[in-house]
Amino acid sequence: MREKDRFSENFLWGASISAYQAEGAILEDGKTLSIADLSTRDESGMCQNAVSSDFYHHYREDIRLLAEMGAKAFRFSLAWPRIMPGQEGVRNREGIAFYHRMLDELKRYGITPVATLFHYDLPVSVQEAYGGWKDRRTVDAFMSYVRICFEEFGERIPYFLTINEPDILFMYGGHGLDLHGREPWRRERLKINHNFALAHARAVNLCHELLPGAKIGPAFGYVPVYAKSCRPLDRIAAMNISEQQNQFFQELFLNGRYMSHVLDFYAQESEMPEIEESDLELLSSAPSDFIALNYYKSDVAKWCETSEEPQEMQGNAGGRKGTCVYPKVPGFYELCANSYLERTNWDWEIDPAGIRVMLREVYHRYHLPVLITENGVACLEQPEEGSIPDEERIAYLRDHIRACREAVGDGVELLGYCVWSFLDLMSTGHGASKRYGLVYVDYGSKERKRIPKKSYAWYGNVIKCNGNEL
Ligand code: BG6
Repeated sequence: MREKDRFSENFLWGASISAYQAEGAILEDGKTLSIADLSTRDESGMCQNAVSSDFYHHYREDIRLLAEMGAKAFRFSLAWPRIMPGQEGVRNREGIAFYHRMLDELKRYGITPVATLFHYDLPVSVQEAYGGWKDRRTVDAFMSYVRICFEEFGERIPYFLTINEPDILFMYGGHGLDLHGREPWRRERLKINHNFALAHARAVNLCHELLPGAKIGPAFGYVPVYAKSCRPLDRIAAMNISEQQNQFFQELFLNGRYMSHVLDFYAQESEMPEIEESDLELLSSAPSDFIALNYYKSDVAKWCETSEEPQEMQGNAGGRKGTCVYPKVPGFYELCANSYLERTNWDWEIDPAGIRVMLREVYHRYHLPVLITENGVACLEQPEEGSIPDEERIAYLRDHIRACREAVGDGVELLGYCVWSFLDLMSTGHGASKRYGLVYVDYGSKERKRIPKKSYAWYGNVIKCNGNEL
């Protein structure tokens, strides 16, 4: 293998969780509810969000497992309603102490913390006071919380992510935004996105002002798009959807620039945000230090004639392969299945080459180092005689890590790779039934017993050989 095709010596091999999906303890030690806590608690108890994987009480054991696997990095999120649960600027000492204890554990094992500032858990009090992210006052409230995070943890956390997947929130719905139903979500989403961008830029600038040693960047969910054929209109269709779900957000967050044709497209159904001149100045003067990317799947697009009937995307909610309905947007694109690829039970295409496409598309456009903060596959799993032989996950991770290494050979500056997820946790859309972890969590047991899966040991070996012997 050529030297330049290898992962760097200080490559950040890691694994990820987010607060509301893993911590549980939603009303403990001064924490108040977030909108994510509400929207994922259903009556069947499927999501069990109140306890979830109970990371809040198991963090010592979990970080020990992380260390024994050999992890170099841990990507988690700080929970706004745990740190600043009520009045703006007022700190919750107990919540802050929890994260200090967690950071102490990471330090003990030499694991680098990578912290997301916002992963969907807006305090209900902010939602009620201002109507949530569609109102600029929420940006001010966010900044008050971010200042606390920087003052409390800034010396201890070298990598911050601002907002997790503003693009996926925009594209796929109101979860995490407390906007139930398609209409309110469509109407408000341009305003929400604009405020996310302002919040991102202000957090970047505050980080640079207060913490010269720390690095900060956005976290996008990226879905590369192939054209179904070499028909030129299929290529236009692929560009349309790729710009609408990928580049629109990157140009805004990284360059402070609205792609006007995409803005016009969305403005057909969404109210326009008030874009003040000072907003654009702010957005273009907040240089990110790196780009975090979450990758799961790719899409295929073909041209959709204007005479066609529109079709809403209908995700596969039940985990039954082949039940998703692809969207049709006449005059723009239509998505369809990729006949070259297998799919997961939830109809997500398994496409290792797609992660390489993504890394090249993003790195060679923005020339910023990239950190993979999420990549993984969900499975329906049960222990078999006490163990979980998750061969499907091993194959998925192996092929994606190989593709990342190939992207390094293509010249991409890759800082690290974090598996989603370290532990089984609550899926955003499917609660406890959709398991992503390297470590199994027994939701049936009160003590939430942990069982490392086969992929846990396998990934440990990948880390040991620095991903170069796959
Ligand atoms: C990303 C999110 O969109 O994908 C995670 O950052 C999420 O929070 C992950 O869990 C997988 O999506 P889902 O819906 O399968 O949980």
